[in-house]
Amino acid sequence: MRRKFIAGNWKMFTNAAGAEQLAAAIVKGLGQEMGVDVALCPPFPYLSRVAITLKGSVIALGAQNFYPEKEGAFTGEVSPAMLVDVGCRYAIVGHSERRHKLGETDAFINKKIHSGLAAGLRIILCIGETLQEREANATEKVLDTHVTAGIAGVKASDLQKITLAYEPVWAIGTGRNATPDQAQESHAFVRRRVAQLYGKEAAENLVIQYGGSVRPDNAAILMAEPDVDGALVGGASLQAEQFFAIVRGAMSVK
Ligand code: PGA
Repeated sequence: MRRKFIAGNWKMFTNAAGAEQLAAAIVKGLGQEMGVDVALCPPFPYLSRVAITLKGSVIALGAQNFYPEKEGAFTGEVSPAMLVDVGCRYAIVGHSERRHKLGETDAFINKKIHSGLAAGLRIILCIGETLQEREANATEKVLDTHVTAGIAGVKASDLQKITLAYEPVWAIGTGRNATPDQAQESHAFVRRRVAQLYGKEAAENLVIQYGGSVRPDNAAILMAEPDVDGALVGGASLQAEQFFAIVRGAMSVK
């Protein structure tokens, strides 16, 4: 049975005091066992502070990115081992903002996944089509490439350390979420594809989040779809009350 998983992607927002306050409010508001998994992904400079705030709670820490090397002369970069060292359990890989604004390729994303897994991180791999790709009926082709190239070479025993996040690019930060039917269709396609690659059982255990304008008023209805196992939340994760409401939405449909 898959548990719902809600992750907050704070992107390049907050400041030191604000990050700590937001994390503290979320710890206070969510209490202990919720029956759903929750992670917060603050910007790099605030990971250590947020780690301290989350200590002893059931909320996990995640990072938004890393560079796929153990260490070395990579000025400005952060290794997956460093993230583990400061308490991260998860890292987001392949976010569309990195694919489209920073030119990350599937091959680079694949390298990151191997490097992150080797360091002991769990990975949230973002996949999703642009509006032009959707309008050209290329959604399945794009999802197929993002999944097969992204997780190429990942051992079956490591698949459980990967969460997929279906994030249609046209829905991110636009206030225009996918409809529950659109999300379900893409999630079911991805699960079928993973079943072809890793077998039915592995695919059934795979957690697939939806992301893109998830808000308190659409979260539960999206997550009520059989293949939508949670949410990767951007904007609404920066407001504690909105984030709680989304987590409560997941609890109501789990
Ligand atoms: P949004 O972002 O919730 O602000 O649309 C989601 C994401 O980019 O992960």
